[in-house]
Amino acid sequence: MDQLVIKGPTKLNGQVKISGSKNAALPIIAASILLNGKTTIKNIPEIKDVISLIKIVEDLGAKCSFKNNIFKIDTSKLKNKNPDPELIKHLRASILLIAPLLVKNGEVRIPHPGGCLIGARPIDVHLEAFKRMGAKIKNGGKDYYLKADKLSGVNVTTDFFSVTGTENVIIAAVLSKGQTKISLAAAEPHVQDLCNFLNKAGAKIKGIGTHNIIIDGVNKLSGIEYEIIPDQIESGTFAIAAAATKGRVEIDGFVKAHHESLLSKFDRANIKYEFLSDHKIKILPTNHIKAIRIRTEVYPGFPTDLQAPIAVLATQASGTSEIYETIFEGRLGYINELSKMGANCVVRDAHQASITGSTPLYGTRITSFDLRAGATLVIAAIIATGESRLDQIEIIDRGYERIEEKLKKLGANIRRVSLKEVE
Ligand code: EPZ
Repeated sequence: MDQLVIKGPTKLNGQVKISGSKNAALPIIAASILLNGKTTIKNIPEIKDVISLIKIVEDLGAKCSFKNNIFKIDTSKLKNKNPDPELIKHLRASILLIAPLLVKNGEVRIPHPGGCLIGARPIDVHLEAFKRMGAKIKNGGKDYYLKADKLSGVNVTTDFFSVTGTENVIIAAVLSKGQTKISLAAAEPHVQDLCNFLNKAGAKIKGIGTHNIIIDGVNKLSGIEYEIIPDQIESGTFAIAAAATKGRVEIDGFVKAHHESLLSKFDRANIKYEFLSDHKIKILPTNHIKAIRIRTEVYPGFPTDLQAPIAVLATQASGTSEIYETIFEGRLGYINELSKMGANCVVRDAHQASITGSTPLYGTRITSFDLRAGATLVIAAIIATGESRLDQIEIIDRGYERIEEKLKKLGANIRRVSLKEVE
């Protein structure tokens, strides 16, 4: 139960390199179970969710190693067994194991993935798709049991453009008999990365990056070497942090093609920036930040995972910014914490809020509810005058690799303390 202690205000300055994408690493590690032999995957971030998933895959008998951001897996000794419920109950992304284990073993038993602070997060879209592909599903109350001798290709609609729902169907379809057509497919950069990884291993996936994906089943996938994309959400978080602190920061791993929506918000907010390459941006100090309107959408719309971070920019903008979170029903909890720091916020309902700036922020004791809210409060604490103490930072460690190290290098006065030190 560590804490982050942050003293502000600081303008962030310098260079930061973005880590590999958490939301690409998770489906790709899950899917690597289906590749015969040895696979090497580079640029894997050393974060808690990835370490938890690797533990589960090792428990299934795969021979794995993970060091210097390189994950290696040899699937030749995979056992025909269910994932350990003790290991998967802490990792929501373990739902991505349903498809590879159902294809590999013909059956899989997996506990209900709990909801979390950002919403109920049901998995009906996933289960519906597996049923259409021929799986029999039993809901045992606290777990699901799925059985399918051979999945067959079908036409599937992934409701809500579900990201992991789309990923589960893709992983299930690549070795299924016949053709699978997915409409309303998610198209996020991490979904595209999963498709590119599987195609390199021998899959036949078309329509990558669109909302209509066609997959022709093949007989086998072979082990490969692959490097995953930089983290779209981490790069967006650091760009917002640089802009909100009115600093001058070079961000290596900010892929221009992944951020059309964020960049259009920056333009509306009068944030100055220049591109040094297609994956390197330099954020420049902006004196007069303008209010913005944020409505989260599926990709290529504004990402729900950047909704909380950009709210901090709104506290430093002149005028009233509007926020509409359309994807999740519980993703505005951080606003109360921003108000404690002096922000002028009004929460209208579970999906809408407004923030009027610009207001000075003051350091205080704050709590990170979900992963992205945690990063938001770190940015706010860097802007704030005085000392902030941020609890529950293990939640931030789930998705941001060495966040305090990166921020310290950019000049932030930030340190990690364990609670026993504090008591
Ligand atoms: C993925 O979650 C990401 N996680 C989330 O990132 C991200 O916020 C989300 O996509 C939206 O972009 C990973 O990729 C590991 P969804 P996922 O299925 O797939 C509803 C982070 O911070 N829905 O696209 O679980 C759901 O309740 C995390 O990195 C159903 O109703 O999200 C939500 O309202 C947080 N039934 C909407 O669809 C289903 O079966 C979108 O959810 C599936 C989803």
